[in-house]
Amino acid sequence: MCVRATNRQGGITLDGNGRGNLGDDLRRRMIFLRSMISHPRRVGAVWPTSRWAVRDLLDMGDLPRARTVVEFGVGTGVYTGEILERLHPDASFLAFEIEPDLASTVAERLGNDPRLRVINDSAENVEEYLDGAKADYIVSSIPFTSLPAGPRQSILGAARAALKPDGKMLVLQYSTTVLPYLQRLFAPIERRLSPLNIPPAFLFACSVSEEPVREEVPDSAESDRLPYALGALALGTLLFLLRRLGRRRR
Ligand SMILES: C[S@@+](CC[C@H](N)C(=O)[O-])C[C@H]1O[C@@H](n2cnc3c(N)ncnc32)[C@H](O)[C@@H]1O
Repeated sequence: MCVRATNRQGGITLDGNGRGNLGDDLRRRMIFLRSMISHPRRVGAVWPTSRWAVRDLLDMGDLPRARTVVEFGVGTGVYTGEILERLHPDASFLAFEIEPDLASTVAERLGNDPRLRVINDSAENVEEYLDGAKADYIVSSIPFTSLPAGPRQSILGAARAALKPDGKMLVLQYSTTVLPYLQRLFAPIERRLSPLNIPPAFLFACSVSEEPVREEVPDSAESDRLPYALGALALGTLLFLLRRLGRRRR
C-alpha cells in the first residue's frame, strides 16, 4: 500500500511496500513515456538511463561513506534502487521527483526502506527538506540542457548550497552543453563518458568550488534544440534495433 503524507513544506513524502516485477517495470516505463509526452523539456528522455550508465555515474563517488545523499529527478527509480544498494545502513536519502505519477510508483516499490524519502516536489526546494543538514552527494539526471534558464539556474544554485564543502554533485547528461553552467559553480569537474548507454551519456563529478560564482553564461538557441535532436536520434536507434530484432526472429 502506498502511504501519502503532506509535509510542512507542502511537498508530498511517500512511503510504500517495495513490490516489483516485470509487469510493474513495463508499467513504470509507460508512465515515464507518458510524462515525457506531457513535459518533454522537463523529462528530457524517452526511456530510463541504462544500468551501465547508472553504475558508471555512481562509481564516480564513494556512496558507502556518505551519510546524506540526495537524488534529483528520480524517474522510474533506476538510480534510486542502485543508490540504496550502495548506501550505509545509517544514511539518509532524499529523492526528488516533480512528476507525481513517477514519484508515487517509485515510492510504492522502494519507499519502505527507512533510509529513503521520495519527495514529490521540485529539486529547487531541496534545502527546505534537509532541515539544516548538508549533503555528501547529489545525484542528478535532470535534463539541464532542455530546461528553461530560470529553473536550471535555481536547481544548480540550490544543489551547490545544499552540499557539504567536500560534497559532490554527480550529473548525467546527453550532451556537454551544461558544462559552462556547472563550471560557474563547481570546480574541479571530473568528466567521463558512458558509451553503452543509448545515446552515450556524459558524466560529471562536480566538487564544490571555493571560488566566487562566475559571470552568467549566455543562452544559445543551439542548447534548446540539442535535446530534441538527441531524442530523435535515440528514437531512431530504438526503431533500428527493433527492426533488426524482428528480422532475426523471422
Ligand atoms: C532524464 S529523466 C531521468 C529519470 C531517471 N533518473 C533516469 O535516469 O532514468 C529526468 C527526470 O527529472 C525529473 N525532473 C525534471 N525537473 C525536475 C525538478 N525540478 N525536480 C525534480 N525532478 C525533476 C523529470 O520528471 C524526470 O523524471
